Amino acid sequence: MKTLAIETSCDDTSLAIISYKNWFFDVEKILLHSQIAEHTKFGWVIPELASRLHESKVIDLLDEIWIEEIKKVDFISYTCCPGLPWSLLVGRTLANTLSLFLEKKLTPVHHINWHILSILCDENINNIQFPFIALTVSGWHNNLYIIENTKEENNIDELASYTEQLQNNYSLNQDDIITKIWNLKITKIWFTLDDAAGEVFDKVSRMLGWPYPGGKRIWDKAKLWKKMNFDFPRIWLKKKEFNFSFSWLKASANYKIQEIKKEMWEDLDEQTICNIAYEFEQAVVETLWKKLLKASKHFWIENIALVGGVSANEELKIFIINHKEKFKIKNFYTPKKNLYSTDNAAMIWVAGIIENLDSNNK
Ligand code: KG4
Ligand code: ZN
Repeated sequence: MKTLAIETSCDDTSLAIISYKNWFFDVEKILLHSQIAEHTKFGWVIPELASRLHESKVIDLLDEIWIEEIKKVDFISYTCCPGLPWSLLVGRTLANTLSLFLEKKLTPVHHINWHILSILCDENINNIQFPFIALTVSGWHNNLYIIENTKEENNIDELASYTEQLQNNYSLNQDDIITKIWNLKITKIWFTLDDAAGEVFDKVSRMLGWPYPGGKRIWDKAKLWKKMNFDFPRIWLKKKEFNFSFSWLKASANYKIQEIKKEMWEDLDEQTICNIAYEFEQAVVETLWKKLLKASKHFWIENIALVGGVSANEELKIFIINHKEKFKIKNFYTPKKNLYSTDNAAMIWVAGIIENLDSNNK
Protein backbone atom coordinates (compact mmCIF):
# COMPACT_ATOMS: atom_id res chain seq x y z
CA MET A 1 0.00 0.00 0.00
CA LYS A 2 1.36 3.40 -1.00
CA THR A 3 0.28 6.98 -0.38
CA LEU A 4 1.16 10.58 -1.23
CA ALA A 5 0.87 12.94 1.74
CA ILE A 6 0.48 16.70 1.80
CA GLU A 7 1.25 18.81 4.90
CA THR A 8 0.51 22.56 4.96
CA SER A 9 -0.92 23.11 8.46
CA CYS A 10 1.57 25.72 9.76
CA ASP A 11 4.97 26.90 8.47
CA ASP A 12 6.26 23.75 6.73
CA THR A 13 5.25 22.78 3.22
CA SER A 14 5.90 19.09 2.80
CA LEU A 15 5.10 16.21 0.45
CA ALA A 16 6.06 12.60 1.04
CA ILE A 17 5.62 9.13 -0.39
CA ILE A 18 5.36 6.25 2.05
CA SER A 19 4.83 2.59 1.39
CA TYR A 20 3.53 -0.03 3.79
CA LYS A 21 4.52 -3.64 3.31
CA ASN A 22 4.81 -6.51 5.74
CA TRP A 23 3.95 -4.24 8.68
CA PHE A 24 6.83 -1.86 7.89
CA PHE A 25 6.38 1.88 7.14
CA ASP A 26 9.02 2.92 4.62
CA VAL A 27 9.55 6.65 4.02
CA GLU A 28 10.48 6.46 0.31
CA LYS A 29 10.62 10.15 -0.46
CA ILE A 30 10.20 13.30 1.60
CA LEU A 31 10.28 16.88 0.32
CA LEU A 32 10.19 19.78 2.73
CA HIS A 33 10.27 23.55 2.49
CA SER A 34 10.52 25.36 5.82
CA GLN A 35 9.11 28.89 5.86
CA ILE A 36 11.09 29.84 8.99
CA ALA A 37 13.38 32.28 7.13
CA GLU A 38 10.36 34.16 5.80
CA HIS A 39 8.57 34.42 9.18
CA THR A 40 11.58 34.97 11.39
CA LYS A 41 11.77 38.75 10.92
CA PHE A 42 8.24 39.06 12.31
CA GLY A 43 9.08 36.92 15.36
CA TRP A 44 6.08 34.64 14.78
CA VAL A 45 4.26 32.75 12.03
CA ILE A 46 2.14 35.21 10.01
CA PRO A 47 -0.95 33.27 8.82
CA GLU A 48 -1.55 35.26 5.62
CA LEU A 49 2.10 34.94 4.57
CA ALA A 50 2.12 31.22 5.45
CA SER A 51 -0.81 30.41 3.15
CA ARG A 52 0.68 32.40 0.24
CA LEU A 53 4.02 30.61 0.61
CA HIS A 54 2.31 27.20 0.79
CA GLU A 55 0.43 28.02 -2.39
CA SER A 56 3.60 28.58 -4.43
CA LYS A 57 5.90 26.05 -2.70
CA VAL A 58 3.55 23.10 -2.79
CA ILE A 59 3.53 23.27 -6.60
CA ASP A 60 7.36 23.48 -6.73
CA LEU A 61 7.58 20.39 -4.54
CA LEU A 62 4.98 18.56 -6.61
CA ASP A 63 7.12 19.25 -9.70
CA GLU A 64 9.92 17.26 -8.07
CA ILE A 65 7.80 14.11 -7.93
CA TRP A 66 7.23 12.29 -11.18
CA ILE A 67 3.61 12.08 -12.21
CA GLU A 68 4.21 8.35 -12.85
CA GLU A 69 5.17 7.98 -9.20
CA ILE A 70 1.98 9.72 -8.08
CA LYS A 71 -0.13 7.54 -10.36
CA LYS A 72 1.18 4.48 -8.49
CA VAL A 73 -0.11 5.58 -5.07
CA ASP A 74 -3.28 4.03 -3.67
CA PHE A 75 -4.61 7.16 -2.01
CA ILE A 76 -3.81 10.76 -1.11
CA SER A 77 -3.54 11.90 2.53
CA TYR A 78 -3.52 15.48 3.77
CA THR A 79 -3.63 17.31 7.11
CA CYS A 80 -7.23 18.39 7.65
CA CYS A 81 -6.99 19.94 11.15
CA PRO A 82 -6.00 21.58 13.44
CA GLY A 83 -3.82 24.31 11.89
CA LEU A 84 -3.94 27.71 10.20
CA PRO A 85 -7.27 27.68 8.27
CA TRP A 86 -6.04 29.20 4.97
CA SER A 87 -2.87 27.11 5.02
CA LEU A 88 -4.88 23.92 5.58
CA LEU A 89 -7.05 24.94 2.64
CA VAL A 90 -4.04 24.96 0.27
CA GLY A 91 -3.22 21.33 1.12
CA ARG A 92 -6.84 20.29 0.98
CA THR A 93 -7.37 21.90 -2.42
CA LEU A 94 -4.30 20.19 -3.90
CA ALA A 95 -5.33 16.83 -2.39
CA ASN A 96 -8.86 17.20 -3.76
CA THR A 97 -7.61 18.13 -7.23
CA LEU A 98 -5.16 15.22 -7.44
CA SER A 99 -7.78 12.84 -6.12
CA LEU A 100 -10.31 13.99 -8.70
CA PHE A 101 -8.00 13.89 -11.72
CA LEU A 102 -6.07 10.75 -10.84
CA GLU A 103 -9.11 8.98 -9.35
CA LYS A 104 -7.45 8.34 -6.01
CA LYS A 105 -9.14 7.93 -2.67
CA LEU A 106 -8.77 10.88 -0.28
CA THR A 107 -7.78 10.47 3.39
CA PRO A 108 -7.93 13.51 5.71
CA VAL A 109 -5.63 13.14 8.73
CA HIS A 110 -5.72 14.85 12.13
CA HIS A 111 -2.46 16.67 13.04
CA ILE A 112 -2.23 15.19 16.56
CA ASN A 113 -2.92 11.65 15.39
CA TRP A 114 -0.08 11.83 12.89
CA HIS A 115 2.30 13.20 15.53
CA ILE A 116 1.43 10.23 17.75
CA LEU A 117 1.93 7.79 14.87
CA SER A 118 5.26 9.37 13.86
CA ILE A 119 6.92 6.70 16.03
CA LEU A 120 6.05 4.30 13.20
CA CYS A 121 8.15 6.08 10.52
CA ASP A 122 10.82 3.58 9.35
CA GLU A 123 9.40 1.13 11.88
CA ASN A 124 7.59 -2.21 11.95
CA ILE A 125 4.20 -1.86 13.65
CA ASN A 126 4.70 -5.22 15.40
CA ASN A 127 7.58 -3.68 17.38
CA ILE A 128 5.14 -1.36 19.19
CA GLN A 129 3.51 -2.65 22.37
CA PHE A 130 0.05 -1.43 23.34
CA PRO A 131 -1.31 0.30 25.30
CA PHE A 132 1.12 3.20 25.47
CA ILE A 133 0.97 6.73 26.84
CA ALA A 134 2.02 9.48 24.42
CA LEU A 135 3.10 13.00 25.29
CA THR A 136 2.56 15.24 22.25
CA VAL A 137 4.47 18.43 22.77
CA SER A 138 4.88 21.06 20.08
CA GLY A 139 4.34 24.77 19.43
CA TRP A 140 0.56 24.44 19.79
CA HIS A 141 -0.10 21.19 21.60
CA ASN A 142 0.85 19.82 24.98
CA ASN A 143 -1.31 16.78 25.66
CA LEU A 144 -1.11 13.29 27.07
CA TYR A 145 -2.97 10.41 25.40
CA ILE A 146 -3.50 6.72 25.99
CA ILE A 147 -3.34 4.65 22.82
CA GLU A 148 -4.98 1.25 22.98
CA ASN A 149 -5.15 -1.44 20.35
CA THR A 150 -8.78 -2.51 20.55
CA LYS A 151 -7.86 -5.90 19.07
CA GLU A 152 -5.88 -6.66 22.19
CA GLU A 153 -7.08 -7.10 25.77
CA ASN A 154 -6.19 -3.79 27.40
CA ASN A 155 -8.15 -3.75 30.62
CA ILE A 156 -7.69 -0.11 31.53
CA ASP A 157 -10.78 -0.06 33.76
CA GLU A 158 -9.93 3.29 35.26
CA LEU A 159 -10.06 4.99 31.88
CA ALA A 160 -13.84 5.04 31.47
CA SER A 161 -14.48 6.83 34.75
CA TYR A 162 -11.51 9.07 34.11
CA THR A 163 -12.83 10.33 30.76
CA GLU A 164 -16.20 11.00 32.38
CA GLN A 165 -14.50 13.06 35.08
CA LEU A 166 -12.51 14.96 32.45
CA GLN A 167 -15.66 15.73 30.53
CA ASN A 168 -17.40 17.09 33.63
CA ASN A 169 -14.47 19.14 34.88
CA TYR A 170 -13.49 20.79 31.63
CA SER A 171 -16.77 20.63 29.65
CA LEU A 172 -15.15 18.79 26.75
CA ASN A 173 -17.30 16.78 24.43
CA GLN A 174 -16.66 13.12 23.74
CA ASP A 175 -15.10 13.88 20.32
CA ASP A 176 -12.40 15.95 22.00
CA ILE A 177 -11.49 13.11 24.30
CA ILE A 178 -11.62 9.96 22.21
CA THR A 179 -10.70 9.42 18.58
CA LYS A 180 -10.53 6.15 16.69
CA ILE A 181 -8.18 5.32 13.86
CA TRP A 182 -8.02 1.76 12.49
CA ASN A 183 -7.94 -0.56 15.54
CA LEU A 184 -6.50 2.19 17.71
CA LYS A 185 -8.42 4.11 20.35
CA ILE A 186 -6.74 7.39 21.29
CA THR A 187 -7.95 8.91 24.58
CA LYS A 188 -6.85 12.34 25.74
CA ILE A 189 -6.05 12.32 29.47
CA TRP A 190 -4.16 15.48 30.49
CA PHE A 191 -3.47 18.72 28.60
CA THR A 192 -2.18 22.26 29.01
CA LEU A 193 -4.56 24.86 30.38
CA ASP A 194 -2.62 27.71 28.75
CA ASP A 195 0.62 27.68 26.69
CA ALA A 196 2.25 24.63 25.12
CA ALA A 197 5.89 23.88 25.98
CA GLY A 198 7.09 24.68 22.43
CA GLU A 199 5.22 27.97 22.60
CA VAL A 200 7.06 29.00 25.80
CA PHE A 201 10.38 27.92 24.25
CA ASP A 202 9.57 30.29 21.35
CA LYS A 203 8.38 33.15 23.58
CA VAL A 204 11.31 33.01 26.03
CA SER A 205 13.71 32.75 23.10
CA ARG A 206 12.20 35.96 21.79
CA MET A 207 12.68 37.62 25.20
CA LEU A 208 16.37 36.66 24.94
CA GLY A 209 16.55 38.39 21.57
CA TRP A 210 16.39 35.44 19.17
CA PRO A 211 14.06 34.92 16.22
CA TYR A 212 11.31 32.29 15.85
CA PRO A 213 11.45 29.32 16.43
CA GLY A 214 13.31 29.22 19.75
CA GLY A 215 13.39 25.60 20.94
CA LYS A 216 16.55 24.52 19.17
CA ARG A 217 18.36 27.82 19.93
CA ILE A 218 17.60 27.60 23.67
CA TRP A 219 18.77 23.99 23.66
CA ASP A 220 22.07 24.97 21.93
CA LYS A 221 22.74 27.93 24.25
CA ALA A 222 21.83 25.95 27.37
CA LYS A 223 24.78 23.62 26.68
CA LEU A 224 27.14 26.55 27.48
CA TRP A 225 25.63 27.05 30.94
CA LYS A 226 27.68 27.79 34.08
CA LYS A 227 26.22 27.62 37.60
CA MET A 228 24.01 30.51 38.77
CA ASN A 229 21.99 30.79 41.97
CA PHE A 230 18.45 30.91 40.64
CA ASP A 231 15.96 28.51 39.10
CA PHE A 232 12.46 28.65 37.60
CA PRO A 233 9.20 27.14 38.93
CA ARG A 234 8.10 23.60 38.04
CA ILE A 235 4.37 24.13 37.85
CA TRP A 236 1.94 21.59 39.31
CA LEU A 237 4.51 18.88 39.84
CA LYS A 238 3.84 18.37 43.53
CA LYS A 239 0.13 19.28 43.53
CA LYS A 240 -2.54 16.72 42.73
CA GLU A 241 -3.23 18.59 39.49
CA PHE A 242 -2.48 16.44 36.47
CA ASN A 243 -2.77 19.00 33.67
CA PHE A 244 -0.01 21.31 32.48
CA SER A 245 0.38 25.08 32.83
CA PHE A 246 3.33 27.04 31.47
CA SER A 247 2.20 30.69 31.62
CA TRP A 248 3.61 31.26 35.12
CA LEU A 249 6.99 29.90 33.98
CA LYS A 250 6.90 32.24 30.97
CA ALA A 251 6.10 35.21 33.27
CA SER A 252 8.89 34.17 35.71
CA ALA A 253 11.42 34.10 32.86
CA ASN A 254 10.33 37.55 31.72
CA TYR A 255 10.53 38.90 35.28
CA LYS A 256 14.02 37.41 35.81
CA ILE A 257 15.33 38.82 32.51
CA GLN A 258 14.06 42.31 33.40
CA GLU A 259 15.50 42.03 36.93
CA ILE A 260 18.98 41.02 35.70
CA LYS A 261 18.92 43.76 33.04
CA LYS A 262 18.18 46.35 35.76
CA GLU A 263 20.99 45.01 37.97
CA MET A 264 23.45 45.11 35.07
CA TRP A 265 22.34 48.51 33.79
CA GLU A 266 22.73 47.14 30.28
CA ASP A 267 21.81 44.27 27.96
CA LEU A 268 22.42 40.69 29.07
CA ASP A 269 25.91 39.32 28.45
CA GLU A 270 26.35 36.04 26.55
CA GLN A 271 27.06 33.90 29.65
CA THR A 272 23.95 35.19 31.49
CA ILE A 273 21.84 34.43 28.40
CA CYS A 274 23.17 30.85 28.32
CA ASN A 275 22.47 30.46 32.05
CA ILE A 276 18.87 31.71 31.70
CA ALA A 277 18.39 29.41 28.67
CA TYR A 278 19.64 26.45 30.73
CA GLU A 279 17.55 27.12 33.83
CA PHE A 280 14.46 27.70 31.70
CA GLU A 281 15.05 24.51 29.68
CA GLN A 282 15.52 22.51 32.89
CA ALA A 283 12.18 23.75 34.26
CA VAL A 284 10.30 22.74 31.08
CA VAL A 285 12.07 19.43 30.69
CA GLU A 286 11.56 18.39 34.33
CA THR A 287 7.86 19.25 34.16
CA LEU A 288 7.42 17.25 30.96
CA TRP A 289 9.27 14.07 31.86
CA LYS A 290 7.86 13.93 35.38
CA LYS A 291 4.26 14.35 34.15
CA LEU A 292 4.77 11.66 31.49
CA LEU A 293 6.16 9.20 34.01
CA LYS A 294 3.48 10.20 36.56
CA ALA A 295 0.81 9.35 33.96
CA SER A 296 2.42 5.97 33.32
CA LYS A 297 2.40 5.21 37.04
CA HIS A 298 -1.18 6.51 37.50
CA PHE A 299 -2.62 4.31 34.74
CA TRP A 300 -0.22 1.36 35.19
CA ILE A 301 0.91 1.60 31.58
CA GLU A 302 4.54 0.66 31.12
CA ASN A 303 5.01 1.79 27.49
CA ILE A 304 5.48 5.50 26.82
CA ALA A 305 6.06 7.76 23.80
CA LEU A 306 7.31 11.29 23.26
CA VAL A 307 6.35 13.05 19.99
CA GLY A 308 5.98 16.53 18.43
CA GLY A 309 8.57 19.28 17.78
CA VAL A 310 9.86 19.42 21.38
CA SER A 311 10.67 15.69 21.26
CA ALA A 312 13.73 16.78 19.22
CA ASN A 313 15.16 18.05 22.53
CA GLU A 314 17.96 15.64 23.52
CA GLU A 315 17.99 16.80 27.15
CA LEU A 316 14.34 15.73 27.53
CA LYS A 317 14.97 12.32 25.96
CA ILE A 318 18.03 11.74 28.16
CA PHE A 319 16.04 12.41 31.36
CA ILE A 320 13.33 9.96 30.29
CA ILE A 321 15.87 7.28 29.38
CA ASN A 322 17.72 7.78 32.69
CA HIS A 323 14.52 7.40 34.74
CA LYS A 324 12.97 4.54 32.72
CA GLU A 325 14.11 1.81 35.03
CA LYS A 326 13.10 3.56 38.27
CA PHE A 327 9.57 4.09 36.91
CA LYS A 328 9.40 0.51 35.54
CA ILE A 329 9.03 1.63 31.91
CA LYS A 330 9.26 -1.30 29.49
CA ASN A 331 9.38 0.61 26.20
CA PHE A 332 10.10 4.24 25.35
CA TYR A 333 9.14 5.23 21.79
CA THR A 334 10.13 8.46 20.08
CA PRO A 335 10.54 9.38 16.37
CA LYS A 336 13.65 7.74 14.88
CA LYS A 337 14.94 11.02 13.39
CA ASN A 338 14.55 14.64 14.54
CA LEU A 339 12.98 15.25 11.13
CA TYR A 340 10.04 13.06 12.20
CA SER A 341 9.56 15.10 15.41
CA THR A 342 8.68 18.38 13.69
CA ASP A 343 5.86 18.84 11.18
CA ASN A 344 6.29 17.05 7.86
CA ALA A 345 4.39 14.93 5.40
CA ALA A 346 5.92 11.56 6.26
CA MET A 347 3.87 11.25 9.41
CA ILE A 348 0.64 12.11 7.63
CA TRP A 349 1.34 9.28 5.33
CA VAL A 350 1.83 6.86 8.18
CA ALA A 351 -1.45 7.99 9.73
CA GLY A 352 -3.12 7.92 6.31
CA ILE A 353 -2.02 4.34 5.75
CA ILE A 354 -3.21 3.27 9.18
CA GLU A 355 -6.62 4.82 8.47
CA ASN A 356 -6.77 2.64 5.34
CA LEU A 357 -5.74 -0.66 6.92
CA ASP A 358 -8.43 -3.20 7.50
CA SER A 359 -8.70 -4.66 10.98
CA ASN A 360 -6.29 -7.48 10.05
CA ASN A 361 -3.39 -5.11 9.25
CA LYS A 362 -3.70 -5.65 5.50
O1 KG4 B 1 5.45 19.89 15.84
P1 KG4 B 1 6.04 21.17 15.41
O2 KG4 B 1 7.00 21.15 14.25
O3 KG4 B 1 4.93 22.21 15.04
C1 KG4 B 1 3.73 22.33 15.75
O4 KG4 B 1 2.84 21.48 15.58
O5 KG4 B 1 3.70 23.29 16.55
O6 KG4 B 1 6.78 21.82 16.68
C2 KG4 B 1 7.43 23.05 16.63
C3 KG4 B 1 7.88 23.43 18.04
C4 KG4 B 1 8.42 24.87 18.13
O7 KG4 B 1 7.78 25.50 19.20
C5 KG4 B 1 9.91 24.66 18.39
O8 KG4 B 1 10.49 25.71 19.16
C6 KG4 B 1 9.92 23.35 19.14
O9 KG4 B 1 8.93 22.56 18.49
N1 KG4 B 1 11.24 22.67 19.02
C7 KG4 B 1 12.04 22.42 20.08
C8 KG4 B 1 13.24 21.82 19.56
N2 KG4 B 1 13.09 21.71 18.20
C9 KG4 B 1 11.86 22.24 17.90
N3 KG4 B 1 11.89 22.66 21.40
C10 KG4 B 1 12.89 22.29 22.23
N4 KG4 B 1 14.06 21.75 21.81
C11 KG4 B 1 14.27 21.48 20.50
N5 KG4 B 1 15.42 20.91 20.10
ZN1 ZN C 1 2.93 19.65 14.83
